[in-house]
Amino acid sequence: MDGYVSVARRSEVKPGVIKPFRYRGKRYVLVEYEGKLYCFDGLCPHEQGPLEFGQMSGKYLYCSYHQAVFDVTSGKPLPGSPTENVLSSHPVSIRDDTVYVML
Ligand code: FES
Repeated sequence: MDGYVSVARRSEVKPGVIKPFRYRGKRYVLVEYEGKLYCFDGLCPHEQGPLEFGQMSGKYLYCSYHQAVFDVTSGKPLPGSPTENVLSSHPVSIRDDTVYVML
């Protein structure tokens, strides 16, 4: 598990929930879609809005600041979003009830 950091319990990350955490002063979010976990930098790549205040619906993460919508399976914004910047993602690994992220 070199480079991986324990960041949450698996049971804390659920569909439709944005689970925020901080590591070394930086914000991150964890989300789930179809049983798979995804981790992203916690600030929106548009104008740095905190994604933890957004919403998850299906595979879409909505930023509350200017309504950018990101597909969590690719990190890409949907057409019509106010940015073409992609979410910055981090590899996730799960062991027992612990979520590890490469940060
Ligand atoms: S900061 Fe997220 S859409 Fe603008």
